Order: sequence, then C-alpha cells, then structure tokens
Amino acid sequence: MPVVKSPLSETDRKTVGDALQGALVDLLDLSLVAKQVHWNVVGPRFRSVHLQLDDVVDTARQHSDTVAERASALGVNPDGRAATIAKSTAIASVSEGWIKDVDAVKTLVDALGVVIGRMRERIEVTESPDPVSQDILITLTADLEKHAWMFQAESA
Ligand SMILES: [Fe+2]
Repeated sequence: MPVVKSPLSETDRKTVGDALQGALVDLLDLSLVAKQVHWNVVGPRFRSVHLQLDDVVDTARQHSDTVAERASALGVNPDGRAATIAKSTAIASVSEGWIKDVDAVKTLVDALGVVIGRMRERIEVTESPDPVSQDILITLTADLEKHAWMFQAESA
C-alpha cells in the first residue's frame, strides 16, 4: 500500500514522475554549475556575471523544491542525491579552476540551452497525463528562458 495515494493512474504517474525527476536533476545540477562558476569567474565583467549567477542559483533552487514536492504529492519519491545527479545530468561538467568571464557566460548559455530543451520535452509529455505538473514545468521554463536570454544578450 503506497504511503501517498496518487491522483494519477499508474501509467501517468510513471510518465509524470520521470519528467519531474528529470527536471529535479537538471535544476539541482544547474544550481551547482552556476555556483561553481560564481566562485571561479574572473575578468573585467566579474561583478555583473558573479551576481547574475546567483540569480540563476536562486531560480534553480526554488524550482527544484517545487518539482520535488510535486513528485511527492503524486506519490513519487524525488531523488536529489549527489550520485543520482552525477549519473543523470545532461549538463556538461565545468572544468576546475578560474573561468574567464566570457567563458562563464558561454557555459551558462550552453547549460541553460540543454536544460531548456529537456524541459520543453517534459512539457510535451506531461500535457495530457497531468496539466498541473505541466503548469509547474511551464512556469520554471519561462524563468530559465529569461536567464538564457540575458546570457545570450551578453555574448552578442
Ligand atoms: Fe556568493
């Protein structure tokens, strides 16, 4: 007997659970990548990029909690363990050491691009089984796309 009774059918619960778990991993890794770059960025644009990266961290952390708790509400156990993130993230790992401001911006453009692509796939697959989860994914993707716009504007 499951602890939390899901409002979804077993098939839909699996589809939506996978989408939410994938979103959780992507957001957690995005927050880690953004912090890593926040600490290691150097160059003339240090201050603006450094501060901007914490905006991304805030967005990623806030939405990671929302998707994890949505999973729990559906009776799906969220898994935010380090090993799980390392195993299933699609964001390229950041090399160690200082990172030039232009490369920092490029790193975020790439990371956000990957995550947004995956989020848009999740928006598609959750539409019919669970519009409530889909709404959460749409909201967070809009925030990610705003960050992506700003980093792209900086690399023009
Ligand atoms: Fe900081």
